[in-house]
Amino acid sequence: DDSWAMATQYFPYKGVLFPCFDYSPETLSYVESQFQVRDDDIFNVTYPKSGTNWMLEILSLIRCDGDPSWVRSVLNWDRAPWIETKTGLATALKYPPPRLLTSHLPLQLFPRSFQGSQAKVIYTLRSPKDVLVSLYHFSKVLRLYKDPGPIDTFLQDFLSGSLPYGSWFDHVAGWLGLRGHKNFLCITYEELQQDPWDSVRRICHFLGKELSEQHISSVVENASFQTMRGNKMSNVSQLPDEYMDHSKGQLLRKGVCGDWKNLLSEEQSRRVDAAYQEWMQALDITFPWD
Ligand code: A3P
Repeated sequence: DDSWAMATQYFPYKGVLFPCFDYSPETLSYVESQFQVRDDDIFNVTYPKSGTNWMLEILSLIRCDGDPSWVRSVLNWDRAPWIETKTGLATALKYPPPRLLTSHLPLQLFPRSFQGSQAKVIYTLRSPKDVLVSLYHFSKVLRLYKDPGPIDTFLQDFLSGSLPYGSWFDHVAGWLGLRGHKNFLCITYEELQQDPWDSVRRICHFLGKELSEQHISSVVENASFQTMRGNKMSNVSQLPDEYMDHSKGQLLRKGVCGDWKNLLSEEQSRRVDAAYQEWMQALDITFPWD
């Protein structure tokens, strides 16, 4: 099966790497400079492996006031397509508004028409070590991504941003620059874990949607790890084999905080810490994992 790994290639677009399969410079350029953001768009934005699919599910359920029939009947990538892939862009362009859209793009490559619009962005971020470990495992499963190789070299790629969508550090710093804007909400994977109910309430408030306590509970329950894992519309088990090798693992792998401790050595952990500390000094923020 190594032919798949060997066939996987990345190309740089404005200094950021993207997989060759289902991405192209033309699409990225279109998304950046021609894609028309609507005032009623809601964007689910993340660096990969930060809880994208979880937030996608929460937003889908909020849209339906907690009623799970939509998430049980429509595939998640049709409910909130990734605007930067060829397939996702096609879906987004024929999506009847109001649209729910997903993107992993760093801010500098995000549609320019977002600026000045009323569109809302929910940015979910997660502890870098857990992102690194989740990405390491998922890179063996997702055929769009190169085989991660040994963890030590993968860690180096992560720190230098030589992975699809570039550096986690640049991604987070770029998007967090929007903190304080009324159409931007930042939430962490760790907060979602610690208090899913209150997190959903905050998201509803941000979206101007006041759901009853019962409806909020329904959102939380239907977006839980176990429920999502059992829902073939949400667990990406329906993703075609050319995208994903389902025999090697699944998207909903563990769904916990701190799994990096099972993979990174103390020395490797310290290397991430060093890069993180340096980066943190420039950002005036405290994260729940610190
Ligand atoms: P792990 O690999 O650590 O298990 P993304 O959707 O951005 O690709 O992120 C995938 C990660 O989010 C995976 O982490 C996955 O298990 C976790 N995840 C997905 N849905 C979740 C949920 N409902 N609750 C908790 N974690 C979830």
